[in-house]
Order: sequence, then structure tokens, then C-alpha cells
Amino acid sequence: MKKIIFVVTLIFGFMAIAQAEIQSLRGTNALDKTNTKTDLKKVQPDRDTIPRAYVQQPPMVPHSVDKYSINLKNNKCMDCHSWDKYKEEKATKISRTHFTDRDGNDSGSVDGSRYFCNQCHAPQVDAKPLVENTFTPMSNIQK
Ligand code: HEC
Ligand code: HEC
Repeated sequence: MKKIIFVVTLIFGFMAIAQAEIQSLRGTNALDKTNTKTDLKKVQPDRDTIPRAYVQQPPMVPHSVDKYSINLKNNKCMDCHSWDKYKEEKATKISRTHFTDRDGNDSGSVDGSRYFCNQCHAPQVDAKPLVENTFTPMSNIQK
């Protein structure tokens, strides 16, 4: 019996150590709790577009986004990335794929499935990777 308790304690001990080692940027906050704010000092300064690692990748956001809200009435990202404003703002125009719904129907405005830009386009933070990444990009990437 003592042996079993010892082994179980050991397993839980290792699990605790493993959990302590890899911690997401959210920290220990449960998913249903509001996260603390990102340390804005770590957010990378605005810069040139970031090379894509593979052709289907949603390009990563090369600027800060903390002041750009997306809600029911307004999508701040579109103030610069829409087809009528991108030239003036020197931004990349939103691609045509974003006007197509999941059934392939085209429309003249951003489809609901693409409305929450940050769902796919991730802003960047200057942080140490949580785990090692050995991903190698495709060699024939077009960009
Ligand atoms: C004030 C104008 C402005 C707003 C608002 C803005 N952006 Fe941008 N964005 C730019 C500009 C300018 C660039 C191009 C940066 C460069 O080339 O150096 C850019 C680049 C990008 C890119 C990279 C495109 C590529 O081809 O690699 C993405 C993705 C992006 N923005 C997403 C967003 C999202 C998501 C939001 C809203 C949360 C947003 N932007 C709001 C001006 C803006
Ligand atoms: C469901 C995921 C998803 C959402 C949501 C989404 N995008 Fe994209 N976005 C992509 C992918 C994937 C690409 C690259 C392939 C393509 O162009 O469709 C892309 C490409 C882009 C580009 C680069 C276009 C180019 O010609 O290089 C811009 C700019 C952009 N998105 C802006 C936005 C903005 C602004 C929003 C919000 C209104 C948004 N995206 C919402 C997935 C998404």
C-alpha cells in the first residue's frame, strides 16, 4: 500500500513539474476567467510585413492592435485594410477570399466568418517560445 501511495505521489509530482515548466502566455488563468492584460512593453514595435511560413498562412500582424476594437458596430481593422482605404493608409488590402462565405457565395463585404480578424491574424509579442519549434517552411513559398 505504501508503495502505491509513493508511486502515485511521484506521478503527481512529475505532472506538477511538467505543468510548471510549460505555461501559456495566459499564465494559470482558467479559460472561463478574464485574462490579465498583456504586458505592452513586450509587444513588438510596428515593422514591415512578416514573411509567411507556408502559403495558406494568415499573415501575422506586424503592428500593435490594442487600440483597434472589433465589435458589432465597428471593425477598426477595416479603417485601413478595406478596399477603399488601403491605398491611403499604405496597408495591405484585405484579400478577396474574405468576401466568400463557407458555401462559396461571393459578396461585396467581409463575410461573417472573417469578421473577427484576430481569430486568424495574430499580433506579435517579443517573448521566448514556450516550446521548441522545428517547423521548416516550404521552399517554394510565393511571397
Ligand atoms: C491605422 C491603420 C491600420 C489599422 C487600424 C490596422 N492596420 Fe493592419 N496594417 C496597417 C499597415 C500600414 C500595414 C502594413 C505594414 C507594413 O507593410 O510595414 C498593416 C499590415 C497588416 C497585416 C500584414 C499583411 C501582410 O501582407 O503581411 C495584417 C495581417 C494586419 N495588418 C492586420 C490587422 C488587423 C487584424 C487589424 C485590426 C485589429 C489591423 N491590421 C488594423 C495599418 C493598419
Ligand atoms: C478565418 C481566418 C481569417 C479571418 C477571420 C481573417 N483572415 Fe485575413 N487572411 C486569412 C488567410 C488564411 C489569409 C491568406 C490567404 C488569403 O489571402 O486568403 C489572409 C490574408 C489577409 C491579408 C493579406 C492579403 C494579401 O493580399 O496578402 C490581409 C490584409 C487580411 N487577411 C486582413 C484581414 C482583416 C482586416 C480581417 C478582419 C476583417 C481578416 N483578415 C480576417 C485568414 C483570415
